[in-house]
Amino acid sequence: MQTLERCCAQAICLQERTMETTLVLIKPGGVNRRLIGEIIRRIEARDLTVVGLKLVRPNRALVEEHYAEHRGKGFFDDVVNYLTSGRVVAMAVEGVNAIQAVRTMMGATNPLEATPGSVRGDLALSIDDNLTHSSSDADAAAREVKLWFSEGLPK
Ligand code: CDP
Ligand code: MG
Repeated sequence: MQTLERCCAQAICLQERTMETTLVLIKPGGVNRRLIGEIIRRIEARDLTVVGLKLVRPNRALVEEHYAEHRGKGFFDDVVNYLTSGRVVAMAVEGVNAIQAVRTMMGATNPLEATPGSVRGDLALSIDDNLTHSSSDADAAAREVKLWFSEGLPK
């Protein structure tokens, strides 16, 4: 039992200190509302580091691949249309436990359920204009950073 507890404690400790890189998108609504600075300010204030950054007008193929897990769902076409409707900020963000930290900072998918203090809880009202994307787990983060930064991240 003691060993198990030590292992668990160690695992939690290791998990808490994992250096990660996650993908953040500021969707067209966020760009149009001039929230780029506000969202990046919050990310940097959290002691996370922006290690890749660009403003792009993504094509349909890129967005459909990005949201491949949602293909076939009722909102798929709407979310793809939304993401391709204007300019998007793509960011790679690095830090300790960055994936979970950023997800929590952005808040629940539906802004009506997002905690006040989160980006969506403070700045958004509607699920179809919820301002940001952030990677959900390590596999998604690796895939998405590679997809949006196929040229690689600047050293
Ligand atoms: O962005 P997040 O990971 O929080 O949510 P998701 O479940 O992966 O869904 C991706 C995106 O699809 C959301 O951020 C919304 O923009 C959109 N969506 C929607 O419009 N209606 C839903 N019922 C679910 C998602
Ligand atoms: Mg998602």
